[in-house]
Amino acid sequence: MSVFIAPRPPPLPKKGSLYQYLRIGLRSALSMFVEGSYGTLQVGHIRLPTLPLGRKRSLFILRAFDVLREVLVRRAADFPKSMLMGSMLNQLLGDGIFVSNGEVWRRQRRMMDPAFSVARIREVFPMMRDAAEAAVQRLDERLAGAGAGEPVMMDVETTHFTGDIIFRTIYSEPITAGRSQDIFQAFETFQDIGYGHGFLRLLRVPTSLLPGAGRGARAARRIRMHLKRPLDARLKALREGRPTPRDDILASLIAAVDPETGTSFDETELLDQIAVLFLAGHETSASTLAWAMYLLASCPHLQERVHAEAVQVFGDRPAQFGDIKKLAFTRDVVRETLRLYPPVAFVARDSSREEKLGNRVVPPHSVMFIPLWLLHRHREHWPEPDGFDPDRFERDDSQEAIRCAYMPFSMGPRVCVGASFAMQETVLYVAWLIRHFRFSPLPGHTPQPVSRLTLRSLNGIPLIVERRE
Ligand code: HEM
Repeated sequence: MSVFIAPRPPPLPKKGSLYQYLRIGLRSALSMFVEGSYGTLQVGHIRLPTLPLGRKRSLFILRAFDVLREVLVRRAADFPKSMLMGSMLNQLLGDGIFVSNGEVWRRQRRMMDPAFSVARIREVFPMMRDAAEAAVQRLDERLAGAGAGEPVMMDVETTHFTGDIIFRTIYSEPITAGRSQDIFQAFETFQDIGYGHGFLRLLRVPTSLLPGAGRGARAARRIRMHLKRPLDARLKALREGRPTPRDDILASLIAAVDPETGTSFDETELLDQIAVLFLAGHETSASTLAWAMYLLASCPHLQERVHAEAVQVFGDRPAQFGDIKKLAFTRDVVRETLRLYPPVAFVARDSSREEKLGNRVVPPHSVMFIPLWLLHRHREHWPEPDGFDPDRFERDDSQEAIRCAYMPFSMGPRVCVGASFAMQETVLYVAWLIRHFRFSPLPGHTPQPVSRLTLRSLNGIPLIVERRE
């Protein structure tokens, strides 16, 4: 049977002018590549134009594994997180772990790693299961109510699910529909403006005066307000000596003490870390799930394999922690979705001094762009690179590609803190939902992948949903 080709934006027909690149890049970084970009391992170089007073800046695109390893792993300390990330995200994340560098980052990482240990992830499993059951109930109500027969916007639905999980696991309380919707909309606004302005700041354009700057800042404040209220309530309860949950992530962040300095997080630091976990944790997983459901909806024979596996593993009882490792095919579906649609499609680092990478001399203060999107669909590495083929993860002919050209959670010291958490919630959701429903694509609709801060579908992911008997 031929494999389903997962949509990607059309490559640029030819090498364009710088103006063309920038215009397209402002809409989505995925559309900036010519077909040849998917087949070369050379270090690409773009000299960025800057305003007359600005220092020139270069952008390098890294694709070869040895160069990536050097930047992300072996010499990670010499290639800090790019200022580009900080300038796109700091209104929302403050100096949280996703954007910080140096000793500030090392302290945060020492204090946060324990909250994501295997033991802690096991403890939060019941909260994930409750959120998955709530997702089934929402769809049931939807199918029985006024929306019956209408397609379901799966990207909105999966965002509600992952927002619910992260709320339950951080605060031990579910997210309300109103709060989820408000955060979804505020993040859409923030992401549109934050991405475009971050891109322009690469060219040293002062963006605080541009249209939209105020709207972006207001959207960031709105999201932080939603996250601050339950934090304030917890801190007040602790001050007043009232009982508070002990097993959630917030409890673990409040209790965290840096073994080297003996310090804890203050209130602003707590809010910054919660904002990171909320956004790094819920946007990325929601995007993965929406694409996974679309791919399975487009491949009924693979969806039936997930269903058969879910029936065999869950039977008619609630999901249990031990089920996750038995859902082997569903895990491969998630891994293949992360290959085709890596939610963090690009990772960026800065050079702190002059470097030689591959065949290029890299001046100080250049931006290293690591396009997971290109690596994951690279013609040199992957057979049928655009095809949706979860079984490739079990075949010998893909093991080299998986080792050298597959890193949806990045690698090295700044590898995703929440990778195991994310795999647990995404595998659970796909299997649990397909256990209960059948999904099919909306005829005539092809989602258009775009990457701003995370990879999303520009025109949404509407699917037809039916209850299984
Ligand atoms: C499918 C879901 C996810 C994907 C694909 C993903 C991907 C990534 C990637 C690629 C990075 C590194 C970015 C860079 O190097 O610039 C990262 C970092 C991070 N992720 Fe995730 N992530 C996911 C889910 C989560 C979840 C569920 C959490 C927490 C609840 C989380 C928390 C973080 C944090 C805190 C960092 C920063 C780590 C550091 O800089 O030390 N992520 N993630």
